[in-house]
Amino acid sequence: MTMILLALHVLSALVWVGGMFFAYVVLRPSIPGIEPAPERPRLWRRVFARFFPWVWVAVFTLPTTGYALIFGLHGGMADVGLSVHLMQGLGWVMFLLFGHLYFASWRRFRTSVDAGDFQAAGPALAGIRKIVAINLVLGLIVVIIGATGRYWP
Ligand code: HEM
Repeated sequence: MTMILLALHVLSALVWVGGMFFAYVVLRPSIPGIEPAPERPRLWRRVFARFFPWVWVAVFTLPTTGYALIFGLHGGMADVGLSVHLMQGLGWVMFLLFGHLYFASWRRFRTSVDAGDFQAAGPALAGIRKIVAINLVLGLIVVIIGATGRYWP
C-alpha cells in the first residue's frame, strides 16, 4: 500500500511540476513570431483546458496520498521530520495559488477568449503566467525537499 501511495504521490508531482516547466520554460518562449496575435490566446486556451484537469487530479491526489502516508506509514504528524512539514506547508500554498489561478484568472481568460475580447484576455493571461511561475519555483523546491528529506540530519 505504501508503494502505491508513494507512486501516486510522486506521479502527481511529476505531472504538475513537469507540466508547468514545459508550459513556462519551453512553450511560452516558442510561440511569439510563429503565431499571429489572435491565435496565441486561442492556443493557450486550448493548452490550459487540457492541462488544468490534470492539475486538479494532482491537487486532490498529493494531499490525500501525503496524509495517508503520514498517518499510515509514519504514525502521525508528530512523527514526521521537518522536510514533510515544509512540503505540506509549501504544498498548501501551491494548492491555494492554483485555486486562485483557476477561479479568477483562468475563468476571466477563458470567457474573454471565447467572446473574442483579446484586449481583456491579455491581463488575465499575465495573471496565469505569474502564478505558474511562482508555483513552478515552489514545486521544484518541494520536489527537492520531498526527495532529499529522508537524508537530512
Ligand atoms: C499536503 C501536501 C503534502 C503532504 C502531506 C505530503 C506528504 C509526503 C510524505 C509523507 C512523503 C514521504 C516522505 C518520506 O517518507 O520520506 C512525501 C514524499 C514526497 N513528496 Fe509530498 N506531500 C505533500 C505535497 C507535495 C507536493 C506539492 C509535492 C510536489 C509538487 C510533493 C512531492 C513529493 C516528493 C517528490 C516526495 C519524495 C518521494 C520519494 O522520493 O520517496 N509533495 N510527501
